[in-house]
Amino acid sequence: MRLIIRDNASKASAYVASYIVDRIRAFNPTPENPFVLGLPTGSTPQGVYKILVEKYKAGEISFENVVTFNMDEYVGIPRNHPESYHSFMWKHFFSHVNIPPSNVYMLNGNAPNLEANCVAYEEAIKRHGGIDLFLAGIGEDGHIAFNEPGSSLASRTRVKTLGYDTILANSRFFDGDIDKVPRMALTVGVQTVLEGREVVVIILGQRKSLALQRCIEQGVNHMWTLSSLQLHPHPMIVADEDATLELQVKTVKYFKSIEKVAREAGFEQVLPSKVRTSNGPIPLTKVEEVNSPTIHSPQLTTSRLLRAPPAAEYPIRSVSPDLVPDRMASRIPEPNMHKRLTPNPEQQAARQNAIIA
Ligand code: PGA
Repeated sequence: MRLIIRDNASKASAYVASYIVDRIRAFNPTPENPFVLGLPTGSTPQGVYKILVEKYKAGEISFENVVTFNMDEYVGIPRNHPESYHSFMWKHFFSHVNIPPSNVYMLNGNAPNLEANCVAYEEAIKRHGGIDLFLAGIGEDGHIAFNEPGSSLASRTRVKTLGYDTILANSRFFDGDIDKVPRMALTVGVQTVLEGREVVVIILGQRKSLALQRCIEQGVNHMWTLSSLQLHPHPMIVADEDATLELQVKTVKYFKSIEKVAREAGFEQVLPSKVRTSNGPIPLTKVEEVNSPTIHSPQLTTSRLLRAPPAAEYPIRSVSPDLVPDRMASRIPEPNMHKRLTPNPEQQAARQNAIIA
C-alpha cells in the first residue's frame, strides 16, 4: 500500500493526473496494445479530469490508444440525463480529449437485461486484457465503485441497491431531493477492481476521513469495501491533508517517510516494470477463506468443570482472627440504642473501654 498525502485537493489531483500520464506514456500504447484505464465519476475526480484535459491540450499526452471502462452507472435514468454518469464523463473528460468513442465502455443502466449487460462488461474487460490502472474515488461509507457496505469482496459487475448514506450524499446532485436519486446502479465488483494491475484511489476532504481510517488502519471488512485494497499487490491512495484527519499520527508519519526516504535515497518508488510497461496476464487476487477453527456444534462440558471440587483438594488456610465469629449483640453499646441505626461514636468508645477494662 502506498499512501501519498498532499497539502490540498488541487495538489492531490495534480499528483494523480501526472501519475496517470506517466503510466500511459511508460506503457507506450498502440492500437493493438492499448492502455486500459478504469475510471470513476463523482465530485472528487473532477480535478483530475480537468488536469488531464489540460495536459492533452498542451500536447503532453494522447488518449488515442487508451480504452476506458467506467466503474458504474445509475439504473433507470436516461442516458442523456445531466446526472447520468454517461453525461458526466462526456462533459468532464471524453469530449475534450482525442479518445475514440469506440474505446469508451460504460455500463448501460437502461439495458433491457441488466444482468446480461454486467456479464458482457466483464467479458469486454477480459477481451481487452484486463484493466491496467483502475482510478477510483470512495464514498463516505468507504464504498469503492458502488460496492456498498456489506458487498461481497468477491463480487463482480452486477446490479447494486444503493445504501441510504449514498442516496443522501448524492441527493446534492438531484436538487437535494432524495426521491430523485436512483435507488439502484450497475457497478463493477470488488473483485473486478482488485483484478486491475494497479488501483489508484483519490480521497479528498474531511468527510471521507473516517472511511480512510477504517480502510487503512483496520482489517479487511465488507462493511468498508475500500479496505479490500489491502489484498491488492499495487494499491495507491492519494489523499489531501483533510482526508487524513482520523488517521493516527504514526500512520501519517510512516507513509510520509516512505516518500521522503525514497527521495533522499535518490530513487522514486515505481511499479515493477512488468506492470508499468506491458499488459501481462490478468492478476487474480484471491480472497482466501479464513482458516480459523470453527465450532460445528456445542461442545460437551464435562461435569468435572461444573461441579465444585471437594474442599479437601485445596490446602486448608489458617483461620484469621478477624474471622472469629462473635455475637451481634455484643456490638450494641447500650440497650437503649437498639433503635439507632448509627450508634453515638463517643458512647460506643466508652462502652468498648468499659468492656476492655
Ligand atoms: P464524491 O463521490 O466524489 O462525489 O464524493 C464519490 C463516490 O461516492 O464514490
